[in-house]
Amino acid sequence: MYQYVKRYWFSICFYILAGVFGTVMGLGSSVVSKYLIDAVTGVRKDKILLFAVLIIGMTAAGIISNAVISRISARINVVIQNEIQADIFQKILYTEWKELQQFRSGDLLNRLSNDAVQVASSVISWIPNSITKLVQFIGAFAIIFYYDPVMAGIALLSAPVTVIFSRKFMGKMRTYNNEMREMTSSLMSFQDDTFQNIQTVKALDLTGVFEKKLQSLQNRYKEKMLDYNKFTVYTSSFMSAVGTGVSYICFGWSVYRLWSGYITTGTLLMFFQMANSLSSSFSSLIQIIPAAINAATCAGRLMSVSELEKENALDMEKVDRILEKEYKGITIELKEVNIHYKDGENVIHRGDFIANAGEITAVVGPSGEGKTTLIRVLLGLLHPMEGRAELKNAEGIKCRLSAGTREFFSYVPQGNTIFAGSIAENMRMVKEDATDEEIREVLEMACAYDFVKKLPKGMETVVGEKGSGLSEGQAQRLAIARALLKNAPVLILDEATSALDIDTEERVLKNIMKKEKGRTCVVTTHRPSVLSVSDHIYEIRESHLKKLK
Ligand SMILES: Nc1ncnc2c1ncn2[C@@H]1O[C@H](COP(=O)(O)OP(=O)(O)OP(=O)(O)O)[C@@H](O)[C@H]1O
Ligand SMILES: [Mg+2]
Repeated sequence: MYQYVKRYWFSICFYILAGVFGTVMGLGSSVVSKYLIDAVTGVRKDKILLFAVLIIGMTAAGIISNAVISRISARINVVIQNEIQADIFQKILYTEWKELQQFRSGDLLNRLSNDAVQVASSVISWIPNSITKLVQFIGAFAIIFYYDPVMAGIALLSAPVTVIFSRKFMGKMRTYNNEMREMTSSLMSFQDDTFQNIQTVKALDLTGVFEKKLQSLQNRYKEKMLDYNKFTVYTSSFMSAVGTGVSYICFGWSVYRLWSGYITTGTLLMFFQMANSLSSSFSSLIQIIPAAINAATCAGRLMSVSELEKENALDMEKVDRILEKEYKGITIELKEVNIHYKDGENVIHRGDFIANAGEITAVVGPSGEGKTTLIRVLLGLLHPMEGRAELKNAEGIKCRLSAGTREFFSYVPQGNTIFAGSIAENMRMVKEDATDEEIREVLEMACAYDFVKKLPKGMETVVGEKGSGLSEGQAQRLAIARALLKNAPVLILDEATSALDIDTEERVLKNIMKKEKGRTCVVTTHRPSVLSVSDHIYEIRESHLKKLK
């Protein structure tokens, strides 16, 4: 949070100054009103006009400073909010894939939207507000003290009670805050999950189950919320009882002072206004505590995401050397690798694997044995705990597989991975300046052009999230076309032709290998048709990677 405060210190200081100015004007106009009343009641008749003009001037200055404050705060707020969101978004994108697995997407969304908003608004709310309110408090206290030190002493009576009280309850507030944020995350994750799988929910006739689940989550949230509310109602009632008691004592004392002739009517009225300022600034200062705790909780939740381990691009100097040259003809080699997920057993144990340029290397094996896991290693998403995982070019320059070697790969993932947007937009994600002609060519290679050209808007047709509006096989062919457009030296297909009929599958695979002679191709499959065109076959079974062909 301080990094943002530092970045916008000038605007924030201006904001604070405007706030302090408005407060000083408010206090000043109360003091002048004392003199005005004294003038009207006959103590100083000569200055009525001057005091009246002063009051109007100060009030106007106060109004203008408030307007300036709300403009500045809106500006700083939206700018900081955007920056925090962009920062966290970027950090999530560069976080190790494995680290992100512990978060549900709804939880990340909640942090990115709600927590970031809270932190942004706190930069412009509780830090400057506490300064403004402190100035108001000290100013009002100093003015009372100037006119009547005893009254000032009485006005301060509630301070020690409040300080002890708020210290005691800070820990509890922190716990409540954390719990409520986590519950909001669960709620959002559940809703996100439901909408992502709405077709399954309906098809399995689970609408009633999901409604009940939402209700149960909402009830838990409601109970926690009401619990917290009870806690805050008790604490704030106690605080206002203390505040009211003190202001009654102040009231009695100032009436007594007027009766005994120690102060004028104007001073009495000013005392009332000052006592009001004092108690309102004090209660604002007290209310800043929960706001600060809330902001700290949200900032902590953002930090726990932003401080996750970042991806390392390894051997970049060698990667650059390969990129400078003709970088076709890439060989991938895994040597005695052990691969597992967090705290799990080895999915692959001491595995050896080679995929050569110009060949199709197939990986087979029963479901859940580790084919996709192996591909995650090739893509530098997972790193072997032991062993070597590297690629080398035709000249023998070797680099370890990591985020830095990802640009050598085109990848068609398992499942539907088309994004919301037009077909052309989906294609241009991997090559921004691709011409329509280039897109058409890869669509043809992936046997997708036939159906795309029949769509009312051709390649400008817009599809929904996860390619909704397309059949599985159509989405697969678009994903293959996208991978081909990237034209990387290594192509990885993870069950990427599983939804195609055998003829189309064969044509696609032939087209892929025909275009680029030196391309390295790794496919995972269950289909014999793919195996028949493969040069080498590996099998993963019971954590062992075995070469069959
Ligand atoms: N993100 C993950 N976190 C933890 N474990 C995982 C994760 N993804 C997969 N696994 C585990 O790793 C093992 C291998 O899974 P993987 O997805 O690689 O199998 P697969 O061979 O591709 O299966 P399929 O043919 O069904 O696609 C499984 O036991 C699975 O439970
Ligand atoms: Mg798989």
